[in-house]
Amino acid sequence: MAASLALVGIGSLVTNEPSLGDGPLGILPDAAVVIEDGRISWVGPSGECGDADQRIDLEGRAMLPGFVDSHAHPVFAGDRAAEFAARMGGQPYAAGGIRTTVAATRAASDDDLRAGLRRLAAEFRASGITTFEAKSGYGLTTADESRALRIAAESTAETTYLGAHVVPQEFAGRPDDYVDLVIGDMLDACAPHARWIDVFCDRGAFDADQARAILTAGIARGLLPRIHANQLQHGDGIRLAVEVGAASADHCTHASDDDLALLAGSDTVATLLPGAEFSTRSPYPDGRRMVDAGVTVAVATDCNPGSSFTTSMPFCIAVAVRDMHLTPDEAVWSATAGGARALRRDDVGHVRVGARADLVSLNAPSHVHLAYRPGVDLVDRVWASPPTPKVGS
Ligand code: NIG
Ligand code: FE
Repeated sequence: MAASLALVGIGSLVTNEPSLGDGPLGILPDAAVVIEDGRISWVGPSGECGDADQRIDLEGRAMLPGFVDSHAHPVFAGDRAAEFAARMGGQPYAAGGIRTTVAATRAASDDDLRAGLRRLAAEFRASGITTFEAKSGYGLTTADESRALRIAAESTAETTYLGAHVVPQEFAGRPDDYVDLVIGDMLDACAPHARWIDVFCDRGAFDADQARAILTAGIARGLLPRIHANQLQHGDGIRLAVEVGAASADHCTHASDDDLALLAGSDTVATLLPGAEFSTRSPYPDGRRMVDAGVTVAVATDCNPGSSFTTSMPFCIAVAVRDMHLTPDEAVWSATAGGARALRRDDVGHVRVGARADLVSLNAPSHVHLAYRPGVDLVDRVWASPPTPKVGS
């Protein structure tokens, strides 16, 4: 029998199971969790926790499910700090900056890409993220996209083929030829290493007809669709996401009432990426309006070298609260259970019997402190399967 671990003395436990505690977050005060074989085997009041092989007293700290980062681009080489600095000096953000990272990524060795991904994965973990998605999209050749996905799959099960990030330089003026490659040889090479297919459907990237062709081809190969939609301008991306049954429409910075009604009536999650508006100094999407319209909202990092070079989910939660007008409870739900919905996972994002034992404890009495104390590293310890101490501790 596997050794059991009891985490007792949890001051405030976010379960995301309304049946287990108060409100939509199912908050249990003075709680305990028992872990066996990487899964949660018991949740309840600390005083009722039975014997276990090992016992750790959280001494009143808050605990919540590990964050689920459903949107990240962590496989790349190079740096775009100069582009960021120019933007902060007044330059606008444009999709074309992606080509700078494409050049650096193509020139990098497998080991360099692997080392970069591992560094970012360690940062994710230190910020409390226990599940992350990883997109390709900085290779844009058959060989470079498939190697990005092979390397990503070493670190996560949530791999996403994003050959349609932008049209690469060598296809300038021939976007339809590039789409043919994306849905042809490149898809053949990438599909075995990917769970998802994504398209950047926006100004300077791909239009809705191209995006539809790409997502439809991916679906036919057994990949599940998700989409970058309506980041830079209003377009048909959200409508397309619902039409193809995408798990998530990401960014949604420019969304009409009709778009929100479509999302609310569908299984498509709206994934908000606060780091992107923060780092491109763009207007934030109105998360409040989305939640009030009945849309399921996720919050994710969008970690990438161009528009959002952060691995910190607590930072994203704080900005989602401050500038997207989610309540602290909503933002924490969106970064855990919402992210799990956006990845169509029910084994993460919750604290309940049978779920993965992915948990974060905070040096704070409640999850509200994640937004209340912006910029402060409150993560005490991260439990995942296998157990991982916080990086640096
Ligand atoms: O999600 N919008 C498209 N892709 C990334 C940006 C990529 C880049 O600028 O390198 C995003 O923001
Ligand atoms: Fe993105």
